[in-house]
Amino acid sequence: MKGLYTALAATAFTGVFAAPSPIEKGPVTARAAAAACATPVTLSGNPFASRTLYANPFYASEVKSAAAAMTDTALAASAAKVADVGSFLWIDTRSKISVIEENLSNVPCTHIAGLVIYDLPGRDCAAKASNGELAVGDLPVYKSEYIDPIVTILKKFPNTAFALVIEPDSLPNLVTNIDKQACKDSASGYRDGVAYALKQLNLPNIAMYIDAGHGGWLGWNDNLKPGAKELANAYKAAGSPKTVRGVATNVAGWNAYDLSPGEFSKATDAQWNKAQNEKEYIALFSPELKSAGMPGQAIIDTGRNAVTGLRKEWGNWCNVRGAGFGVRPTGSTGNSLVDAFVWVKPGGESDGTSDTSAKRYDSFCGKEDAFKPSPEAGQWNQAYFEDLVKNAKPAF
Ligand code: BGC
Repeated sequence: MKGLYTALAATAFTGVFAAPSPIEKGPVTARAAAAACATPVTLSGNPFASRTLYANPFYASEVKSAAAAMTDTALAASAAKVADVGSFLWIDTRSKISVIEENLSNVPCTHIAGLVIYDLPGRDCAAKASNGELAVGDLPVYKSEYIDPIVTILKKFPNTAFALVIEPDSLPNLVTNIDKQACKDSASGYRDGVAYALKQLNLPNIAMYIDAGHGGWLGWNDNLKPGAKELANAYKAAGSPKTVRGVATNVAGWNAYDLSPGEFSKATDAQWNKAQNEKEYIALFSPELKSAGMPGQAIIDTGRNAVTGLRKEWGNWCNVRGAGFGVRPTGSTGNSLVDAFVWVKPGGESDGTSDTSAKRYDSFCGKEDAFKPSPEAGQWNQAYFEDLVKNAKPAF
């Protein structure tokens, strides 16, 4: 990450030379911009308002290797720039906990580090692609071998600001897929696990966002209230932790932020869903969250939503073909309900394997609009990454 700091310092120095008066303060300011905070961070209000999402070294190094492997030099140059974009680091197994510290060793005070908490027992109960390492019933393991060690590590970084996305897809699945046996079996572990995570991770330098699916999921008229209730119950079971800001939406998703009319607004069932884009979804869901008793701010994943019109059906979620990197992370959203546009899903990491003989093969990853071949969820897909770069809006 040294390269990034150099770039920041250079920008600050340029500013200094252009404006003579603060010359003495210049170098100090430049150094401070790249340094960690000197005192403990206590977050209040929108944590992204004055902070940039940190470009974690884990994803940066995936991107750098990918760019180095490209033969098209123009594309490689564009691809390399992705390494400087802030994104969330997924802690998707207990063993991944070991990379957290090295990824936090250089977070500047001007930045906020993003982590995804993602290891519930019976994970991904309505699909197969992201089935996790813990089985239904492993809640004590989730608590003592996953959440507790993460809390111990994060307590070593009181001077760093964090944003956490809590357990993608879990509670939304309990709202809409509870008819599936696997989700029934997972339900109590999800509810207790999420509440435990929220309670233990409630630290002053952390802002938490509970995953709320997307407009095509909990945005259906009939799902808004039950969805808000499910999330608010977890929040209240955790003792209404101060540092929960609200929800994360469109995580690893494809919905546009404010495309109007929305991508699926002409579908035969569109009349039953007013949340045709993520902006509308938040406008509808936030008041429901508040009346259910929890905060209603949102962050929205814009990592892969640049190109619309690709999905045959709204619910298609796996490696959608033709996608492009979307709006870069920013706390300037122009929407008082939206704390930030963020990159949660690390673009280039697969959503699921297209190998029909694999144990975690999910038929969604074999659909016509899914990119093939694709490796196991979380594994790098070079060809897919290249397309994300080519189709990026804004372009790199
Ligand atoms: C996978 C995880 C991975 C994450 C980010 C999920 O679909 O199941 O293993 O860390 O995506 O790529």
